[in-house]
Amino acid sequence: MCGIFGYVGPRTDGATIVLAGLKQLEYRGYDSWGVAVASPDKIVVKKKTGKIGEANVKDMPHSSFAFGHTRWATHGGVSEVNAHPHLDCTGTIAIIHNGILENYEVLKQKLLTKNHRFVSQTDTEVAVHLIEEYAKRMLFSKAVQQAFNDMEGLNAFIAMNRNNNQFVAVRSGSPLVVGFGNGENFLASDAAALLPYTRQVHFLEDDEMALVSAAGVMMFNARTGVRIKPQKQTLTWSVAEVEKGSYPFFMLKEIHEQPGVMADIAADNAEHAVKLAGIIRQSHGAYMVGCGTAAYACLAGSYLFSKIARRHVNWAIGSEFGYQLDFLTDKSLILALSQSGETMDLLDSVRKSKEKKAKIAALVNVLGSSLWRIADYTLVIGAGPEKGVASTKAFIGKLAHLTLLAYALDGRIREGQKVVTMAVKSAKTVLGEPTVSHIQKLAKKIKKARHVYVIGRGLSYPAALEIALKIKEISYIHAEGLAAGELKHGPLALVEKGTPCIALLPDDETYGANLAGAMEMKARGGYIIGISHKPHEVFDYYVPIADAREATIIPMVIAGQLLAYYLTIARGFDPDKPRNLAKSVTVK
Ligand code: F6R
Repeated sequence: MCGIFGYVGPRTDGATIVLAGLKQLEYRGYDSWGVAVASPDKIVVKKKTGKIGEANVKDMPHSSFAFGHTRWATHGGVSEVNAHPHLDCTGTIAIIHNGILENYEVLKQKLLTKNHRFVSQTDTEVAVHLIEEYAKRMLFSKAVQQAFNDMEGLNAFIAMNRNNNQFVAVRSGSPLVVGFGNGENFLASDAAALLPYTRQVHFLEDDEMALVSAAGVMMFNARTGVRIKPQKQTLTWSVAEVEKGSYPFFMLKEIHEQPGVMADIAADNAEHAVKLAGIIRQSHGAYMVGCGTAAYACLAGSYLFSKIARRHVNWAIGSEFGYQLDFLTDKSLILALSQSGETMDLLDSVRKSKEKKAKIAALVNVLGSSLWRIADYTLVIGAGPEKGVASTKAFIGKLAHLTLLAYALDGRIREGQKVVTMAVKSAKTVLGEPTVSHIQKLAKKIKKARHVYVIGRGLSYPAALEIALKIKEISYIHAEGLAAGELKHGPLALVEKGTPCIALLPDDETYGANLAGAMEMKARGGYIIGISHKPHEVFDYYVPIADAREATIIPMVIAGQLLAYYLTIARGFDPDKPRNLAKSVTVK
């Protein structure tokens, strides 16, 4: 959600560094942005609504102490005045914030009686005045700590004090990372934004507070005040991985990276898969949990475990699991799937599961993320930084890991590697020029559709859900993924002459029944797009996919990702930044 970047050090172009950092965080989703720099007599702030892409901060003073924020509105509408940073009454303290201050009204009433002046409708502004109030009678860092302890809800924020060139950053809930430079230091909401400057980082835990100046970083527990030693970690991602390179959009780059991601997983993860399979075997009841795309990976996992390893591994949506976990015991295992490792709905369920003493295994892409840190066992997806809001390579990475895991559970890890390698080959063909242009043509043909239906059965059912999600979230065409067998229980009523209906037809036991679904839609006038290993006369448009056994849904989903991408381009939208959505959903 909101992006945060801060710099303190010897360089004097602080505002430019911060703006560049914020641009790296654009993908998280935002509606407005702001930068603050400390000048000798005051803090100078620049805020704007809308895109940051073309923005510049040339009109801001030189400064070696600066921070900025990209906002995704929660309290208070989208406006310059509501954008962060927010200033106190004296203009010497500024704050940027990610989260929701739940008791802001009570705090605001108290501050109003002490004559604090508010200019915005945000909860964040309450925090800066609260700090100002405390700072009248204690050290600045103590004032921030005190204010943090008065706040209810999940709040990560950074306060800037012009008088001592020191940031005080504190977190509960939303992510914050300290970057250690040489005579300079950084703060960010996402470690990837720090890569141009440093690889040495510390991921703040909940309730940790960092005092960050050019001279160094001191850390404390914000509740107890006890000093903590930073746990430095080295980032392994490269700068090139977070750049678009020659691709027009991150999403297209990430779609094309998928064969490489899967090949690495097949080559490097046999040992990890065997180890995690052992943990699953020892558990009494294993449950996969994730949100959105990750939930569909969980559903696919439940089919893979059943089909390959004859093992029942349940699945649930992250936001729902919390309501159905009363049966968990200390023998239960939760397999939590997440690209970011910061999705609040998932973290909430995981924390509740931990209270029930269940063990947590995480399949997560971001090293050092909240999920990564609270899990008992971790398996890193290894998809590299994913910046398009719509998840692509992390999803495919999850499917590759789950395929390996299912085979490992059945004692056939080498075969699992072979199957994932088949998916790599098939995916490369989908991403080759003939199929890509074929899908582009299809996108142009159906770009005016109001509804698209995607059907699948068995393993291709979660693939249908995922393809529909990709289409709706970036092209804004209403799309529904359906279990083909459900068609005649209701949805068939919606199919009209010309409605695009995508049928996923892998070469498995579902083929015949799935084809019957395609025929039912054809009989109602549907325009049938068959994604399959062989053509059929019922198809109005055919996208060929080479078989990859249980992993055939991987190239199928890739074909669906390409269709969603080209539909979006044909309709004139930005696939990397769909409206109303953010990359990492850190609020409930
Ligand atoms: C859709 C999409 C979302 C995420 C979901 C979970 O394309 O990206 O549905 O999959 O918000 O995010 P993570 O995997 O970061 O927990």
